[in-house]
Amino acid sequence: MVDQKAIEAAKEKFGILLEKQLNRVEKLKEEGAPVDYSKLDKLIVGVCGGDGIGPYICASAQKVMEFLLEDKLKAGKAEIRIIDGLTIERRVEVMKAIPDDTLEELKKCHVILKGPTTTPAKGDPWPNIESANVAMRKELDLFANVRPVSVPELGIDWTFYRENTEGSYALGSDGFFVTDDLAMDFCVATLQGTERIIRAGFENAKNTGKNYVSIIVKANIIKTTDGLFVDLADKIAKDYPEVKHDVWFVDITTAKLIDPARRSAFKVFVLPNLYGDIITDEAAQIQGGVGTAGSANIGTKYAMFEAIHGSAPRMVTEGRAQYADPCSMIKAVAMMMDHIGEAEKAKKLNMALDVCCQFEKKLVMTGRDTGATGDEFAEYIMETIQRPDLEQVWQGYIDAAIAANKN
Ligand code: IPM
Ligand code: MG
Repeated sequence: MVDQKAIEAAKEKFGILLEKQLNRVEKLKEEGAPVDYSKLDKLIVGVCGGDGIGPYICASAQKVMEFLLEDKLKAGKAEIRIIDGLTIERRVEVMKAIPDDTLEELKKCHVILKGPTTTPAKGDPWPNIESANVAMRKELDLFANVRPVSVPELGIDWTFYRENTEGSYALGSDGFFVTDDLAMDFCVATLQGTERIIRAGFENAKNTGKNYVSIIVKANIIKTTDGLFVDLADKIAKDYPEVKHDVWFVDITTAKLIDPARRSAFKVFVLPNLYGDIITDEAAQIQGGVGTAGSANIGTKYAMFEAIHGSAPRMVTEGRAQYADPCSMIKAVAMMMDHIGEAEKAKKLNMALDVCCQFEKKLVMTGRDTGATGDEFAEYIMETIQRPDLEQVWQGYIDAAIAANKN
């Protein structure tokens, strides 16, 4: 016997979800122009350590950021605000993904540097509150999750444009059991949300001269929401005649990223949220691990920069949090510099990261007392940025790596 009462109850719940999503669409339609950072009297940078190793690696990254922004900070053209309150204890205390007062503080900033935050999963001791990351992306409408991955000696120069507010994440905490036997989750794609992420990918491909976008879906199975990505990409491509685009299924993409014969051909990827989450971890691993990858979460009004990895609470309980590798957070600082119009600073920091982490390795991080602390490594990076011959040194390493790879 079908449980009609359960169906009615589920319809009601579903109705509420639909109403919320349709209200969101209305807001998307009113979206304004992006912030022009060059026009701000003062740039307000929020620093939000998060929890686990977050506060440690974030503090090291903050030092690098302060070093790069020294002139602006001294001239009163930039201000750094420390925003506490995103620890798992605090979030559990108020039973909110982001406590109200913390969200209010975040909304007073233009850009945010954020350490990892613990996301309760099934089976954890914490109650099942929504991820602070996901909540921040939604609350601040940070729709584009931009994740670059580059391995020059392998010819890899990828930029991922992961849709960041919709897909399987939009209602990730709103699925439910219709009956004891039937569990349902939902996947959401709006016309506006899909269009803006595809456009962001095409814009990047055009502006960088890469002129190639790959749309990653599973539209043979997830026909409606992934199908929208495919249809809109075809339509938007007409506005970018110089940009070639193609469509790949996500399963074969996981294989092609490790195919030496194909992978260097990829340039810019546009992906729905969940595929973007998965594929960017794989891509980061090809670059040297998730600890090497930064992540920019870009909206029209706000932008947040973070590591792509989690809060590693075990490193804290084992007393070795000060040895956690801050490079992913420092990479996030480089992305922030680019975003606020400090391209030269971003370039130098990226070169210093390559030199220190991949090539010269005067200090190494092991995650334990056998290696450098995060602060020591940040110092090493700042010293490297100041080397007058940085660009030549970096180019030398790159050329040597390319040559070695050819042999
Ligand atoms: C990421 C992370 C997050 C996500 C988690 C921590 C919620 O994996 O930024 O990729 O799934 O988006
Ligand atoms: Mg992830």
